[in-house]
Amino acid sequence: MNKNLHIDTLCVQAGYNPGKGEPRQVPIIQSTTFKYETSEQMGRLFDLEENGYFYTRLQNPTNDHAAAQITAMEGGVAGMLTSSGQAANFFAIFNICQAGDHMISTTSIYGGTYNLIGVTLPKMGIEVTFIDQDASDEEWAKAFKTNTKLVFGETLSNPNVRILDIERIAGIAHAHGVPLIVDNTFPTPVNCRPFEFGADIVTHSTTKYMDGQGVQVGGAIVDSGNFDWEQYHDKYTCLTEPDESYHGLIYTQAFGKAAYITKATSQLMRDLGSIQSPQNAFYLHLGLQTLHVRMKRHTESALKVAQYLEQNPDIAWVRFPELENDPEHARQQKYLPNGSCGVMAFAVKGDRTFANKFMDSLQLVTIETHVADCHTCILHPAAHTHRQLSEADLLAAGIDPNLIRLSIGLEDPQDLINDIANALEQAKNR
Ligand SMILES: Cc1ncc(COP(=O)(O)O)c(C=O)c1O
Repeated sequence: MNKNLHIDTLCVQAGYNPGKGEPRQVPIIQSTTFKYETSEQMGRLFDLEENGYFYTRLQNPTNDHAAAQITAMEGGVAGMLTSSGQAANFFAIFNICQAGDHMISTTSIYGGTYNLIGVTLPKMGIEVTFIDQDASDEEWAKAFKTNTKLVFGETLSNPNVRILDIERIAGIAHAHGVPLIVDNTFPTPVNCRPFEFGADIVTHSTTKYMDGQGVQVGGAIVDSGNFDWEQYHDKYTCLTEPDESYHGLIYTQAFGKAAYITKATSQLMRDLGSIQSPQNAFYLHLGLQTLHVRMKRHTESALKVAQYLEQNPDIAWVRFPELENDPEHARQQKYLPNGSCGVMAFAVKGDRTFANKFMDSLQLVTIETHVADCHTCILHPAAHTHRQLSEADLLAAGIDPNLIRLSIGLEDPQDLINDIANALEQAKNR
C-alpha cells in the first residue's frame, strides 16, 4: 500500500485488499488447519522454504490482515499478533534475549509488564536493570553491560502518563549497539509512531484503544526493520547463526528485514503458542477501522475533564500531558502533537477513605480494571493493577500511592464532569 497515505486512510483500508467478488470486510478464517495437494508441498512449508498457511498456531489469514494493518499504521516492515499484550511484550523481549543475557527497562511501565520483566524474566535467567527514563546520560551508560540485548520502555506510561523521550533513549540504545523496544499501547499509531523517532520495535496491548469496545484481549508486535542485526552478528546469534530447529536456517539471510518477526512467528509461536484467535483478530480489525475517529474524541474529551479537575479545589493534582502546566507538556508537543490519549492521573485532597468514597459515589464513571476503551472508567493502581508492587516499587516507578487513573471514554464530556462533581460532593457527606 502507498506509503504516503495518511493514518486515517490506513486505519480504514490497510492490511486487507479484497479482489473481485471477495468480501469487503475481512473474513474470519475459523480453521485450525489448511489443505495441501502433496506431502512435498507441506514439507516445504515446514522448512520455511515456501510461504503459506498450514496451522493457525503459526499463522492465520484473518490474523495476518490485522497484523498487516497495524504494521502499515506504525510504518513497519513486518508484524504479528499475539494472544495478549503481555504475550506481545514477552515475545518481543524473549525473541532476542535469553538465559545469561541482560536487558534494561525504564521504571515507568504498566504493573503487569513490571512483574514480567522484574520477576518472571529473572526466573528464566534474564538479568534486568531498571532505570528512570529521565536519568542522566552517565546513569544510563552505567546500566549497560557487555551482554545487554535491548532497552524497553512505554511511549506513554500506564498509569502515570509520562512520555518517553524516544529520540534520546533510542540514541543511547543504538550507541550501545542494542535496539529500543517501545510499548505504544496508549497513544496508538494514530497519535505517535515511535519508529519516526528511532525506536526499532513496537508492541501493543490491542485489548485497549485498538479494540476500543473492551471485547477481546490481544497483542501485537511490529518491527521497523531498521536495526541491523548482522552489524552485531556475535551478539544476536539467535538471528544471525543457524537455527537447528529449522535444519540450520539463518533468519537474517533467509528473511532480511523480516528476520525478527519471522523468527518470533515460526520459532516462539511454534513452541510457546500464544496465538490470537481469528475471531478476536476480526474484532480487532473492526476496531482499527474507526481508531482515528475515536482517538480524536478520547483526547478532546479527556482535555476537557483534565481542565475541570485542574481548577477544582478538591483535587490535589492532575497529570495530563496536554495541560500547559503539565511537566510532560513540551514532550507532548514533540511526540504527541495531536494529543496523547484519554488517560489521565490525579489525586483527590484527603485520605484514602475519602478517595474510596469518591470512587464509590460515581455513577457514569465505573470502577474497572480496564482502561482505554469507549466506557469511562476509574481505578486506584496501588490497590488494583499495581497491587503486587511494594510502596517502594511504586515510588521508584514514579507512581504516587494516592494516584487515581481515569480513562475517558466516548460519552459526553460534560456528563462525565457532572458525575465527578456530584461524586466529590457525595463523598464529603458520606
Ligand atoms: C501499556 C500496557 N502494555 C501491556 C499491557 C498488557 O496487555 P494485556 O492486558 O492485553 O495482556 C497493558 C495492560 O493494561 C498495558 O496497559
